[in-house]
This record gives sequence, structure tokens and C-alpha cells, in this order.
Amino acid sequence: MNHSLKVKIEEVTGCIHKTNVLDEQGWTSEVRRVYTGDRSYLLKSSYKGKYRTWLKEEAQVLKKLTGNTVISVPEYYGLIEEKDGDHLIMSFEDGMSLTAALSKAASETERKSLIRSFGRFLHEFHDQEPIDFFRSEGDWLEGQLLKAQHYAENGQCDGSLTLLENLKTDRPSPVKQTIIHGDCTTDNVMVIDGVVQLFIDVAGMTVGDPRYDESLAIRKFMNNTEYVTAFYDGYTRYKVTKKEFQYFDEGLYEFF
Ligand SMILES: Nc1ncnc2c1ncn2[C@@H]1O[C@H](COP(=O)(O)OP(=O)(O)O)[C@@H](O)[C@H]1O
Ligand SMILES: [Mg+2]
Repeated sequence: MNHSLKVKIEEVTGCIHKTNVLDEQGWTSEVRRVYTGDRSYLLKSSYKGKYRTWLKEEAQVLKKLTGNTVISVPEYYGLIEEKDGDHLIMSFEDGMSLTAALSKAASETERKSLIRSFGRFLHEFHDQEPIDFFRSEGDWLEGQLLKAQHYAENGQCDGSLTLLENLKTDRPSPVKQTIIHGDCTTDNVMVIDGVVQLFIDVAGMTVGDPRYDESLAIRKFMNNTEYVTAFYDGYTRYKVTKKEFQYFDEGLYEFF
């Protein structure tokens, strides 16, 4: 880490004793644990085009959620925007992603229990009344299709313009919008003390279609009936159809 960045971080955290690059990295960023005298922080840095935009959106979400007690996310401490990259400082949370927890789990019973807790956590989240900050942002799917178009036209995603046309003409019939995470894979929820209890990577958190979260939540274990059943033991509000799952997971998600 260069000296000027270190100084800017220390303005937020106080004197840094050491930093560690985490074993578990994401897809769009570099994550480090920053230790000060009495605690530690998570430093998330992004260096490329759309990932920098997402990092800034994540900072906005975390900042607006400061002090809220209903949505479980890390605490926001600061955003440092530099020429070559942006750096988000948040609380370090002692846990691991659900993806990591599932691969470390010692038994099928433990894996199912983790997945059930994920279902329950997402159920409670979707059941909340949208808080003021997330209200009135227009039609979520319309907005996502516009973003998808931009990424596809600029070669910034896997999805093709042909797929996009299909998604535009064949939309699923609307359901009640809820608060959503917006990238709700097993990578982006954290397990603490054996249960899923924290969202991370929250750039896409807004009011939108809960079926998107649900589809991304189950995509990793879609072909394991017992795991899917465990998820729906916890998530009882709705079950996506195969067609809805495909629209969101094999369709829309290709653009993000
Ligand atoms: N607040 C946090 N506290 C502790 N670890 C975190 C925190 N945020 C992220 N991580 C770790 O960093 C990894 C990548 O974070 P994530 O925000 O998902 O990055 P990306 O956007 O690159 O996918 C996560 O899997 C998790 O292990
Ligand atoms: Mg992530």
C-alpha cells in the first residue's frame, strides 16, 4: 500500500499496525484486513471501470444504512477515491462467506443447516417493509435491463444483445417488490457462529424483484434436491418456478 493511501486510511482508522490480504477474495476487488491498536477494519479496493462504480454504490448503501438496526450489513467508515482505484473502509466481521462455510463443513447435516439458515435469513429480509431510503426508485427490472444493455453494448459482460432482446420481450409477470440484496449468491452472505447472519457486497441493495435474490441464492446447489429443500425450509414465502429461475440466473445475471 502506498504511503499517501495509508495516510488517508489512517485519517479514518487511526494508526495502522499491519495489514493482511485475505485468503478469501471476491471477484471485483481486493480485500484486506487492516489492524489498528484496538480493532480491525476491512479494506475493499477496486481498480477497474464498472467495479469502481459498484464499489462507490456499495459505499452509498452502507453509508445510508448507518445506524439502522433491521438490515444486517458491515458498518461504513469511509470511501477513498484515488486516481487509480477506490477504497472502501468498513467494519471487519469475524466470519466467512457461506461458500467457504459449505466447503469447510464436516457433514451433510451441517451443510443443510447452513443452507436452511440462509433461507431463513433471506426470508426475514424480504418480509421487511422497504425502509425509506430504498423506496421510490422506479421499476427495478426496467432499470436492470437498461444497465444490461449498456454493459452488452460496451462488451462489459457475458450476455449477448440477442439474449437481452429475449429478456425484454419475455418478462416474468410482476410480483410484489421487496427490499433485495441484488447479488445474493452464497459468496455474498456471511456465516457467523454457524448461521448466515450478514450481507456483504451490497452495491445492488434496493427495492426490486425478490425472485432475483432467490434464484441467485439457490444457483450453487440447484441440482441437489436435499439442499434446495433445506433452503425452502427456511424460505417459505415463495418458490421460484424453473422458468423464473432461468430468467434470472441464466438470463439477467449474465449481464452482471
Ligand atoms: N466486512 C467484512 N468483514 C470481513 N470479511 C469481509 C467483509 N467484506 C468482505 N469480506 C471478505 O472478502 C471477500 C470478498 O468480499 P466481497 O465484498 O464479496 O467482494 P467482491 O465484490 O469482489 O465479490 C468475502 O468473501 C469475505 O470473505
Ligand atoms: Mg462478492
